Amino acid sequence: MREWIVAGNWKMHNTVQESVALASAIKEGTSSLKKGEVVLAPPYTALARVSETIKGSRITLAAQNMFYEDKGAYTGEIAPGMLKDIGCTYVIIGHSERRKYFHEQDKDVNLKVKKALSVGLKPIMCVGETDEEREKGITRSIVDRQINLGLSGVEKIDNVVIAYEPVWAIGTGKVATSAQAQEVHAFIRGILKDLYGSSANNIRILYGGSVTKDNIGELIEMEDIDGALVGGASLKPDGFLGIIQKIAEKK
Ligand code: PGA
Repeated sequence: MREWIVAGNWKMHNTVQESVALASAIKEGTSSLKKGEVVLAPPYTALARVSETIKGSRITLAAQNMFYEDKGAYTGEIAPGMLKDIGCTYVIIGHSERRKYFHEQDKDVNLKVKKALSVGLKPIMCVGETDEEREKGITRSIVDRQINLGLSGVEKIDNVVIAYEPVWAIGTGKVATSAQAQEVHAFIRGILKDLYGSSANNIRILYGGSVTKDNIGELIEMEDIDGALVGGASLKPDGFLGIIQKIAEKK
């Protein structure tokens, strides 16, 4: 049985004070939760304080990115060991905004995934097609490439989480239908089965892209959707707790 995950990706939002307030509200709102995983991904500057805030709860911490070297002269970068040190369990890798604005390639994603695993961080590896790619009918080949190159050389998949985030659905309010999302999720699980055999059945595949408490209900009923990676709607306690509640009811 796969345990569901809801991750809130705060992106470049929230001061330290705002982050602590939001994390406290999520902690309080999830205190009676008996199953599932709630993950918060604040900006780097708030990781330490959010880490303290969520102590004693079932919430875990994620970073939104990391570099693939252990240390060295890489001005402005953050090493995986630093994230472990501060209490991160997860790290988001290859988010489409990293790919788009910072030109991350599949090979960078691959280096980061391997490095994260080697230090004991669990990567949430993001994949997904653009609007143009979907129009051209090449969604499957794009996702296939991203998965295969991103996981190249990764021998054990158990600690990896995949997030399918169609780029056209991120921050646009244009959510994928549950059928569209399930189709790609099942396709991804098929690729993982080819690569890793039956352990692919234990891998969590999250949907991301304009998820709200109003649309998550249908998505989460799909067999291969094991949770959500949430951007905009994770910035307010009500919106995020509403999503968590819906998922907890249905999975
Ligand atoms: P969104 O972002 O929920 O605001 O569409 C999702 C994401 O980028 O992870």
